[in-house]
Amino acid sequence: MKYDVITLFPEIIEGYCSHSITKRGIESEIINVKTHNPREYSLDKHKRVDDTPYGGGDGMVLACQPIFDCYNSIEKKENFEFIMLTPQGERFNQNIAVELSKKEQIILLCGHYEGFDERIRLGLKPREISIGDYVLTGGELGALVLIDSISRNLENYLGKDKCACDDSFSEGLNGLLEYPHYTKPREYLGMKVPDVLLNGNHKEIEEYRKNESIKRTKQKRPDLL
Ligand code: ADE
Repeated sequence: MKYDVITLFPEIIEGYCSHSITKRGIESEIINVKTHNPREYSLDKHKRVDDTPYGGGDGMVLACQPIFDCYNSIEKKENFEFIMLTPQGERFNQNIAVELSKKEQIILLCGHYEGFDERIRLGLKPREISIGDYVLTGGELGALVLIDSISRNLENYLGKDKCACDDSFSEGLNGLLEYPHYTKPREYLGMKVPDVLLNGNHKEIEEYRKNESIKRTKQKRPDLL
């Protein structure tokens, strides 16, 4: 999977991607993350990328030219998706993460300041995605949320023969929340690991996990049932 991130703050994306599983995913070439800074495409003599809004109002608006030229400079694969991160977009979820994991390339456009010149939406026709009903200062956190959650669904990304199929919300759990996990010791501060997990009976363990998953979802997210 190739991710191309259009951002005025490439260090935010590069910083996150140089750690943990994302770093390993890049090293093993399962994913590739490239940043593109619109400032480098600005034709303004001071390399400005924004301007004051027509009609007045607070804040600055990202201008068309640097964004259009930056987007057009990116080489597109056949099966790509172009996404704009915005609080006005469709709400992101696990189903969309799985759907997007089947693409060859995802181009992510991060906003900043007051917003985008409307002609960026009209001219480039991105799919608009929001990561929740709150407003962030920029789209970078949203882009990283997408990169992380989409990549988990790629083959071998979590390690050889490991898969995200038992994650909360996943098809393997019928869209429910994941069951509880335990590790050593068997008892901690008087709290014991349930016996069923210690007896080695895989059928019983599977049944226990399924029931816990339903119980948890009923308690915490009844809307998912
Ligand atoms: N940019 C600002 N707020 C956002 C949100 N909620 N989701 C995605 N991108 C954003």
